[in-house]
Amino acid sequence: MKILGIGRALPAQAVTNAQLEQLLDTTDEWIRTRTGIHERRIMQDETVTSLALDAARKALADAGLTGRDLDLIIGTTALGDDLFPSIACLVQQGLEADCPCVDLHAACTGFIYALDTADAYISSGKAKNVLIISAEGLSRVTDWSDRGTCVLFGDGAGAVVVGQGEGLLSIRLAAQTGRELLYSASPAQPCPYTPSEGDGSWGIRMQGQDVFRFAVSSSAKDLQAAAEEAGMQVAQADWVLLHQANMRIIQSVRQRLGVDPARMPTNIHRLGNTSSASVPMLLYDLYHSGLLQPGHTLALSAFGAGMTSGACLIRWDKPVPHELRDHAETLFFA
Ligand code: UT7
Repeated sequence: MKILGIGRALPAQAVTNAQLEQLLDTTDEWIRTRTGIHERRIMQDETVTSLALDAARKALADAGLTGRDLDLIIGTTALGDDLFPSIACLVQQGLEADCPCVDLHAACTGFIYALDTADAYISSGKAKNVLIISAEGLSRVTDWSDRGTCVLFGDGAGAVVVGQGEGLLSIRLAAQTGRELLYSASPAQPCPYTPSEGDGSWGIRMQGQDVFRFAVSSSAKDLQAAAEEAGMQVAQADWVLLHQANMRIIQSVRQRLGVDPARMPTNIHRLGNTSSASVPMLLYDLYHSGLLQPGHTLALSAFGAGMTSGACLIRWDKPVPHELRDHAETLFFA
């Protein structure tokens, strides 16, 4: 498969670290130095579905296709506007698509897992064009009284249309059970006939330092394995795009793999951690910056709850259409 088009949608509201100082016992300095985050987008009038639809329409326009050309829609989200139906089903009508729709849950690694599924459908001949929408509203899953987690997350959506081609050079997925490291309890209500379990507390719970270590080692391992399968070194990729969880994670992986900082763009300072939407939204920013050129090789890597992780190598062959060029937004480099 190869990527035919890419879109992105963000809530209008930016919440700065200074605003969080009014809410919590935290400082702009702590958040910047420990994470690299300056601000994040938080939904106000938007919904996860409206962001997903907006990103999907942009990806279809970029691909020069309509919803009728789609054979499958895959959504990825930690929590959509509803527990069911799926995000994929909710956007289908707005795209005028007539195809199967399903959500796939691999937490922050969802986009990489969805690329693998899309590739399997396309390689087997079961689909010609697949839409992947990674849409997240983590502001509604976050415990806003927990300063150790709520400062990290933001909302947004990224989408790609993939079709037949030779763009996916290699992919590696991994998973291991590790609930205690990173989880959010189910919003299920108690049933009078079932003894209730758990403490009923709501929100993301994370053992930050253990997740940090997992992120650095799994990302480095996945990237190395995917690069080896593609017959190259990670440092030879034109661009290395990591899940935007923490600037220090990105820098640690960069150092382990000997990647040139100028090859690792980041947007965590503007968007924070947007779970599965983070890699496609970073890809969107790189594409619209004009830096990503046809023939370039991209290494993508993500990691998250599960614990899941995955990486892939992609050859890019698409210039950004002039009429769709977004305003260049600031990218920082690792
Ligand atoms: O996308 C899913 C994957 N998630 C990740 O990859 C996240 C991985 N983990 C991390 O990014 C980091 O572990 C964090 C950013 C979550 C935390 O950074 P840390 O350097 O590991 O800090 P820490 O948890 O060890 O906390 C250090 C101190 C503690 O105070 P004491 O015990 O030393 O007095 C915390 O209570 O910093 C305190 N602290 C804060 N202080 C001000 C924790 N959060 C804050 C805060 N503002 N927001």
